[in-house]
Order: sequence, then C-alpha cells, then structure tokens
Amino acid sequence: MDNLELLSSKNKEYFSKELKRVTDALIDWKVDSSQVHVPQNEDDFISIEDIPKEGNLLHDSVNKIMQTLNKNINFSSKKFMGFPDSGNSMAGLLAAIVEVFLQQNLINKEICSPFGTRVEANVISWLRQIVGYSYVQQVTDVTQLGGAVTTGGVMSNTYALMAAKKKYPQKNIVILPDNIGHYSLSYATEWLNLGVKVIYCKTVNYRLSISHLEKLLKKYNQKILFIGVYACDSMTSTCENLKDIYESVKHANLDLWLHCDACHGFVLGFSEKYKNKIEYLKYFDSCTMDPHKVLRLPYTLSVVLMKDANDFSRLSRGNSLIMDDPLSFGKTTPFIGSKSYDSLKLWMVINTLGTKKIGKMVNKRISNAQCFYQLLSEDEMFSVDNNEILFSVIFQYLPSKNMTVQEKNLLNRKIYKVMSEEGKYYFHGFEINVDGVKKFVLRYNSGNLAIQEEDLKMAKDYIKKLGNKIYEGR
Ligand SMILES: Cc1ncc(COP(=O)(O)O)c(C=O)c1O
Repeated sequence: MDNLELLSSKNKEYFSKELKRVTDALIDWKVDSSQVHVPQNEDDFISIEDIPKEGNLLHDSVNKIMQTLNKNINFSSKKFMGFPDSGNSMAGLLAAIVEVFLQQNLINKEICSPFGTRVEANVISWLRQIVGYSYVQQVTDVTQLGGAVTTGGVMSNTYALMAAKKKYPQKNIVILPDNIGHYSLSYATEWLNLGVKVIYCKTVNYRLSISHLEKLLKKYNQKILFIGVYACDSMTSTCENLKDIYESVKHANLDLWLHCDACHGFVLGFSEKYKNKIEYLKYFDSCTMDPHKVLRLPYTLSVVLMKDANDFSRLSRGNSLIMDDPLSFGKTTPFIGSKSYDSLKLWMVINTLGTKKIGKMVNKRISNAQCFYQLLSEDEMFSVDNNEILFSVIFQYLPSKNMTVQEKNLLNRKIYKVMSEEGKYYFHGFEINVDGVKKFVLRYNSGNLAIQEEDLKMAKDYIKKLGNKIYEGR
C-alpha cells in the first residue's frame, strides 16, 4: 500500500515542499487586492461530483485546490468593505497554522491539552480584564473563569441565555431591541426550547428607547428573565448607552439577567479614547465577544463571559469518561465535545501586539469609518443613514432627487446584486428601518486596516459608476 498520505520522517521533505507551495499561494491570494473574487457565473444549485474512488497524489490535490482560490471570497482584499472580519492578522494566521499542527483537544486538560488549557484560561482572564470583570489569579477549577471560548457569537449568546434560564427558571419574558438585533438571541430562545416570549423594545437611532424599556419593565415586571442589548449592533455598529440601560433596570429593582452582545464592541475596551463607551459593561451579568470579527484573526473564536462565575458554573457538567478533572473545559462548554485550540490565535495576537497597540488599531478603524462617512456626506448623491460612527456607515446611492422610496430601494438592491456577482468590490447590503422608513442600504465596515483613504475614494467612485450604469439603463 502506498500513497497513504501519512506524515512520517521519510516523507517530511515532500510534505514540507507541498506545504510551502500552498502557503506561498495563499499568501499571494490574500494580499491580492485587485478584486474580492472572480465573477461567479454559476447556477443557483450545487452539482454533486462523483466520489473519487482511486484518489490522487497529494501534489495533484494541492494543484486542484490552488486552481480554485479565486472562487473564494477574499476577506483580506482591500476591496472587501462589507464586514469587519478581515482575517489578515499575521499573528492570528500563524497561530491558526500552529493550532492545526498541535492538534490539541481542549475538552480535557490531562489527556489532551495540558498546555493549551493554560493558554485558554489566560485568554479568558485577559478578556475579563478588558471588560472590567473581576478574575481569579490562580485557577483550580475552570468554572472560576466565569466564561468559555465557543465557536461564534451565536453560540456565545446561546450560553448566556441558557445560564439566565438556569438562574431564573420561573421567568419567561425576554426583551430585545427591535430593528437592529442579531437573530442569535431570539432564535436561541427557540433552539433551547426555553418556553419564553420575546418582546421587542422600540429603538430610536439604533438604541433602545428608554421610555419604552421603562414601560416594559413596569408591564412585565417580575416575569422578565433577560434583557439583551448591543455594544455595537450588527448593522450600524451603534453602541448602546449601557449606563442608561443599567440604571433603568436598577431603578426598577428587578432581579433579572442583563446581557450585552459585545461581539463587535468589546474591542472598544482596548482603546484609551473609546473605552468609556463600554464602561458599564462591568455591571452586566454577561457579555459576548467575537475576536474573529474584530481582531482580524481567522475563524473561529468567540468568548462568553459572566460577571459572576457562579452564574457560569450552572452550565457545568461532569462525566467520568473524559471530563472529571476540574481543569477540563469540556465540562463548561455545552453542545461542544471535541474542542479546538482556537484561543491560541487570540493569545498570539495579544502577545504580539499588546493591548496598547490593539487600542490604537481600534482608533484607526473608527477614524477610517469616519473618513468614509465624511466622503459620502460631502456628496449629494449619497444619503447616509447613521451618524454616530464607530465602525459602520450605512448608505444609499441616490442619483436623482426625484426618486420614490421604492425606486431608491430597488436601485440599491440592484447595485448590491451586480456588485456581488462582479466580485470587484463588496459592501454589505440589507434592509433596515431608518426613522420609520424601510430602506435597503449598503454598509461599509472598517474591518480591514490596510484600507486607506485612497481606497475609500475609489470604492465610492465604483458605487457611483455602477449605480449610474444601472440607473441609466433602467
Ligand atoms: C452582534 C452580533 N452578535 C452575534 C453574531 C453571531 O456571530 P457568529 O457569526 O460569530 O456566530 C453576529 C454576527 O454577525 C453579530 O453581528
């Protein structure tokens, strides 16, 4: 039997050569900012290929993958302007490679990840410090960490809801913001079959209406299980006024779970200039954070933290097969069995940059978004639909003053569709209620710090040119 493709001392030079070939091609692909992806003239169905029976040499499989690189979306391209997740941190990428090779399973410390467990415990404690939660200096049981590394913000939010229901099993009202919420918090109530009702609180300028919140607090009173808000929502990156929310709830004198989805906004805590925006996070019962979105490291890495570690420990389960050891993460991570060593990516990023430089990078992201906001605001052919700019700018291209709301939405939808097919640029696109009007907007998010003012100007020109072409040819 040959070609078993198992790494050994005999084939390590061959493997090393293939690996270098792959990483060189991937690096070239990542730094190529000529487009986001090649135009995809594909059917809207997926054809399933015949299962390979004979197999190929590794070298040939590598060639096959390399021929398809441009079919992938290059999140690191300077023309990819829609999402924060740029995945171009050198430290993050390198750690991702190390993680794969090390093959540690963080379900269990003693058997599968003696050192990785230490790294993950450190990373969780570092993030506790960033948001102002207390932390223990010497961990003898992982529940003391009061949080866990999960696969993404959806899972992290789900953990927060689970812990809330465990604490208050009799309560059944969940209050979430209307218009700006991420689906995870509302869907998690269904996935978990919590038997709760979601009530949507009105929002004004992408923040909770405090007067409506106060009405809901009065109306549902002791029945309220959970209130979820956003430190930088998914659509506009508006940071909730956490102080007002906290004080309204405190004033109502209710025992309930206050949660902040800070998947985007936790990074403000690194910045001397902006950390005051999340100062009140430290009073929230839980918060979630997505380094894979906003610290440029490759997918996936999310963290959920709880202010009181006892709240978190209610999620803990033991099992003699694999996780009877107090320092095994498996017992604190519901839904996850085998657990990858993703925390290494964040450890490496923080270790390489340090919190000060990360803070400066946060400031730069904000100034890039403000620069784009300025460019659009100065041009009467654009309407900008948010004005407290942190990371996102939502906008419409409007070539004529005499367009109905419907015409504006249709044109911007078409711009989005053609742009996504062409692959030259990418801005996100979605529907949102702006001052009572349902709009389809395009969205810039300043995730990729390699993008300069020149790139932003070119992107704006691209939207104008494409928008005009579509408008003229309507
Ligand atoms: C505010 C917010 N929370 C949660 C999520 C879900 O995160 P993930 O995709 O990492 O599961 C997102 C994703 O966009 C988000 O924007």
